[in-house]
Amino acid sequence: MKLTQEQKNFVEDLLSRMTLEEKIGQMNQESPSIVGGFDVPFSELIEMLTDGRISQEEFGKIMASATQDFHEDDIRAGRVGSQMVREPRKNNELQKIAVEESRLGIPLIIGFDVIHGFRSVFPIAIAEACSFDDDLFESTAHMAAAESRAHGINWNFAPMIDAARDSRWGRVSEGPGEDPTLGSRFARAKIRGLQNDRSSLLNYVAACTKHYVCYGACESGRDYNTTSMSVSQLYNVYLPAFRAAMEEGAATVMAAFNDFNGVPCTVNKWLLRDILKGEMGLEGFVVSDANAIRECVNHGIAEDERDAGVQAALAGMDMDMGTHIYMDHLKAEVEKGTVPMAVIDEAVRRILSVKVWLGLFENPYVPEDVIEAYEKGLPEGHIALCKRAAEESMVLLKNENELLPLNRKQKISLVGSLADDRNEVCGAWALAWKPEDCVSIRAGLEAAGANVQYYPCGGPEGEIDFDEADRACREGDVIVAVVGETDAMSGEASSKADISLPGKQRALLERLLASGKPVVAVLMNGRPLALGWEAEHLPAILEAWHLGIRMGDAVAAALLGDVNPSGKLSSSFPSVTGQCPLYYNHPSTGRPGSKSKFTSRYLDAPWDALFPFGHGLSYTSFAYEDLQIHRIGQTLEITARLRNTGKRAGTEVAQLYMQDVSASLVRPVKELKDYRRIALKPGEEKKISFILPLESLGFYDNDGQYRLESGLFRFFVGGSSRDCLEQELRIAF
Ligand code: NOJ
Repeated sequence: MKLTQEQKNFVEDLLSRMTLEEKIGQMNQESPSIVGGFDVPFSELIEMLTDGRISQEEFGKIMASATQDFHEDDIRAGRVGSQMVREPRKNNELQKIAVEESRLGIPLIIGFDVIHGFRSVFPIAIAEACSFDDDLFESTAHMAAAESRAHGINWNFAPMIDAARDSRWGRVSEGPGEDPTLGSRFARAKIRGLQNDRSSLLNYVAACTKHYVCYGACESGRDYNTTSMSVSQLYNVYLPAFRAAMEEGAATVMAAFNDFNGVPCTVNKWLLRDILKGEMGLEGFVVSDANAIRECVNHGIAEDERDAGVQAALAGMDMDMGTHIYMDHLKAEVEKGTVPMAVIDEAVRRILSVKVWLGLFENPYVPEDVIEAYEKGLPEGHIALCKRAAEESMVLLKNENELLPLNRKQKISLVGSLADDRNEVCGAWALAWKPEDCVSIRAGLEAAGANVQYYPCGGPEGEIDFDEADRACREGDVIVAVVGETDAMSGEASSKADISLPGKQRALLERLLASGKPVVAVLMNGRPLALGWEAEHLPAILEAWHLGIRMGDAVAAALLGDVNPSGKLSSSFPSVTGQCPLYYNHPSTGRPGSKSKFTSRYLDAPWDALFPFGHGLSYTSFAYEDLQIHRIGQTLEITARLRNTGKRAGTEVAQLYMQDVSASLVRPVKELKDYRRIALKPGEEKKISFILPLESLGFYDNDGQYRLESGLFRFFVGGSSRDCLEQELRIAF
């Protein structure tokens, strides 16, 4: 995000004409409040529904008589800088008030959670990351930007780039997985896709990278929980994706709910001012997460809301999402001198700069013809990209005796309630999808001409109809069981203490297997599941996640062999939940896990991943040979030969890892450094070449200093983090 001198002058001029109230108004974000029909706050009403004080029916009645308050009077009075609305005509109305009826005519920045697509819903991020396809990451972000802008949204609360290594945490679904290199490439591509096409005001939005920082490290995988770690771990694992996003010019950042080593990110001056705005150079602004400033009182770091607001402002929190604390307290605090005017000016300068960069002062409105075009339906190109994204995101975990792909003559018994539910394909954090755009797995198979019969039998919740399961087994040649999680089982506030297949689905699989018919499991889920039992008993498992609106088409194409799966896991899968947190790039221990007793292992479970990061099969096979490393000046050229040794065309994700064998701090057993998607015809061979700058072989120490330490390094090239060719090289920097 870069402003011209003229734009900077415009911001300064505006700032000089603003009253203190107007400035604080810019730091205030509102979302529509639900009013009328009830006399308790809406959040309390939701609590009442959740804890059973009112029934769903009563809630429905109350809501029918409720209306939304969009805070028009506050906008008119210059007391609102940002809104969260997704209706394009309503957004035009609100902008009109801001621009034509407020004293200074400052447009609103309108934010929304467009996490994995708007109406065109793409795979959840943990799935999309399995494509290891930077071009795809960028294309889907670009399309999300265009659709958002067409609905009056000019600020996307994405990408979510929290490194996540504990799959009990429900929000693993929203981010690119466990690895900082993949996470950084994902972050860069998303920022480019969201922000860089400035050919028209309708093609870009401001990105909001989140959640800064270490939210994914919440203790015991429980959402919103505390985090604590060394500075080197912060710098080496959790900051890289944010640093990459800042280098790419990300306009804004959302702070995380959690505390970091005892100081909530919301009021953490070191994280916000020193690292994010100072060291990493954020040019735009930081927004708190919803209600997070108020929650600093719950954290026990602030005595009351006033105190929380003062701490947040001083720490560099530029915008308050949803608490009104800045509105209620900052003016008096500035007048008292507790909060210097310079702090307010800095925040407002940053917010106005983003608005200027977005072109909102020139044209804050969505043209009516753009709104109408979307009302007619999704353009073909959007549907095609949703399908491509879904196809590339699936991961073939297991395929014994080449059970997959199936052919169109085989009688397929399709089992599982998830298979026929188009409302479940989009996953957590998809808010603008329309049922008519969504394709269930059943619909996908039928449309693809499969010989398929459907037997619901049951799903993640409720009972299993075993008679129906028996019928499915009798009548089909092969059983395709769609099992996993509903979309509500992952995402925010959806942590789980047990991540094995929920409900009675294992019993269903046991019953199907007992028939002796071949059983293929298709997984629909938002997190890595603990699949020890399933991997042992099922001959074939296709990980399909929540793939977005064209899920059914993509799964059908993979099952029938029209598409050859090419995804590789962005997160490791455990055998049992107790292995969490689990990640391939763990620090070396003094006693690496093995069969011997006194090693880093469990008595009752494997110590390593069931399916590791980077794992993913294909309907063909690939061989890696001839790993070579050459130093050329300040770079390494690492080459290998990759051959398609099977009978089908396929795409392989070749992965480069390294290990710093001996360093002044314990380093990971392996770290991903680069990857590439390579398409090969049967029998075809290609030379893969990775160019690694020597400067990228270092790590951060506990003072946050980057170190390049000469010594022995190991390099690995292969098709997963586990199976690689390996070679050592001594390097002097
Ligand atoms: C809470 C979530 O943590 C965040 O990801 C989201 O963007 C905001 N609320 C706004 O909905």
